[in-house]
Amino acid sequence: MKIVFILNGQEVQVEAEPLQPLDQILRNVLHVESVASGCGAGDCGICAISFEGCVVAACMTPAMCAVGAEIWTVEGLGDHPNPKAASILRAKDALEKAVCGACLPAQAMTALTEDLKLESFVDVLCRCGTWHDLLQHLHDTNGDSR
Ligand code: FES
Repeated sequence: MKIVFILNGQEVQVEAEPLQPLDQILRNVLHVESVASGCGAGDCGICAISFEGCVVAACMTPAMCAVGAEIWTVEGLGDHPNPKAASILRAKDALEKAVCGACLPAQAMTALTEDLKLESFVDVLCRCGTWHDLLQHLHDTNGDSR
C-alpha cells in the first residue's frame, strides 16, 4: 500500500506492507539512520521516535498507522517547532563523541516529547550511561529543576 506521511516536516511517500514495522521503513527505505533496530518487540526503546507528538517504539508501529501522521526523528531536530528542540540537539551533539551513543537519538526524541524527568528516560535501555548525561545537560541548559 502507498503510505504518505510527514517526516521531519517534509511529506514522504513509500510503498510498504500494512503491517511492516515503521523502524524498517524509516531505516531501510527512507535511510533515516538515527532510528536503530534493537529488540523488535517494544522492550529496548532504541527505535523511539516522535509520532503525532508522542514518543513511540517504531518497531511496534505498523506502517498503516503512519498514514497522514507527523513523525519526527533526531535528523529533524534542527527544524522542529518545539522550543526544546535546539537545546536537545546541542546536548546530543555535545555528548555523542564522548559516549557510545547507541541510544542517544531515542533519548533525544524522548526528551522532545516527554517531561525532563528520570522516569521518562529509563524506557530506553542505555549501555553506557548517556541518558543521565543528556538529562543533566538539558537540566543545566534549561535551568529546570528535578
Ligand atoms: S527495537 Fe523497538 S523497542 Fe527495541
